[in-house]
Amino acid sequence: MTSGPAKPINVLQYESLAREKLSQEVYEFVAGGAEEEVTLRENRAALQRIQLRPRVLVDVSHIDASTTVLGERVALPVLLAPAGGQQLLHPDGELASARAAAAAGTIAVLSTTSSYSIEEVAEAADGPKWFQLYIFSREIAADLVQRAEAAGYAAICLTVDSPRLGRRERPLRDGQPFFPPIVPKNLLGFDLRSIQHNPAVTWHDVDWLRSLTSLPIVLKGIMTAEDACLAVEHGVLAIVVSNHGGRQLDGVPATIDVLPEVVEAVEGRAEVLLDGGVRRGTDVLKALALGARAVLIGRPYLYALAVDGEPGVRHVLGLLSDELETAMALLGCPSLDHLGRGSIRRPSID
Ligand SMILES: Cc1cc2nc3c(=O)[nH]c(=O)nc-3n(C[C@H](O)[C@H](O)[C@H](O)COP(=O)(O)O)c2cc1C
Repeated sequence: MTSGPAKPINVLQYESLAREKLSQEVYEFVAGGAEEEVTLRENRAALQRIQLRPRVLVDVSHIDASTTVLGERVALPVLLAPAGGQQLLHPDGELASARAAAAAGTIAVLSTTSSYSIEEVAEAADGPKWFQLYIFSREIAADLVQRAEAAGYAAICLTVDSPRLGRRERPLRDGQPFFPPIVPKNLLGFDLRSIQHNPAVTWHDVDWLRSLTSLPIVLKGIMTAEDACLAVEHGVLAIVVSNHGGRQLDGVPATIDVLPEVVEAVEGRAEVLLDGGVRRGTDVLKALALGARAVLIGRPYLYALAVDGEPGVRHVLGLLSDELETAMALLGCPSLDHLGRGSIRRPSID
């Protein structure tokens, strides 16, 4: 009997397996952040600095890690973040990750730069899905939004932290910054390399988007109380506190450190989600204790997709779910609504 590589026992182990499997430039493209990667490291470090305050002698014989996000029931408060070009990692790309999200009872967010089309992913996976939008131009955006609406996507997630691409210095090929070749089968039906991020997108475009669709609008990439307030004023129903996994502006804080000011500013008028550095069930609990409705993961499921396709992504969601349920029991929280500021301690602040 041959024994294959041991199955990862946590999400972090998928990274080293993916590294062995992927070409160096593709691995570095996924793993890397902008410039000196201060923000990339800080996302994890800040989560690790937060401590948990367990309550004991609570009946935790039934643990319920489900919640709702924009009215949709999810089995666990962990969504799949949008990430472009997943065929680079596995031939099934976004089809596999959307199927895994559906199997786990959660939401997949499809990137504008997906390898598969809006309709192909809708056909492949019947779970709830959001469509992530970059407004390259209003003409292209209007077409994508209409297609997403027709294909049954439940929300439009506009990414607002990318007026231009961050300076990612890690993936080099022949001394030049490596940007993965866009696979032929892309969502827009033409070569994305001819498309530029649009530096002229403003709040007017958020209003325009709202006039275009009745789907809820989610803004991804909010990092200040000021912008969170503006988002609410512009009718946005959910905010993702995100620094794009440290891939855009290096030197911004960890998302977990920004979360409290955003939650406070929003005053319950929109749902607040978070991504960046979430690798453990306890990270999920920390974010929820500070007011997030749910979190999104990026690299963890991309590494698992590279290693094992759809089963890999399912496994990552299963590992996080198991860790989350164990942590809830040990924290004395039978359901997510038991979580609050009293569940955590921030040694430098509290
Ligand atoms: C390889 C890769 C591709 C990404 N592509 C997109 C994208 O197309 N649109 C987007 O809004 N965010 C994109 N992101 C950012 C993720 O949605 C998410 O914000 C980030 O990965 C979360 O941090 P984490 O990787 O530490 O979990 C990408 C991230 C990675 C690693």
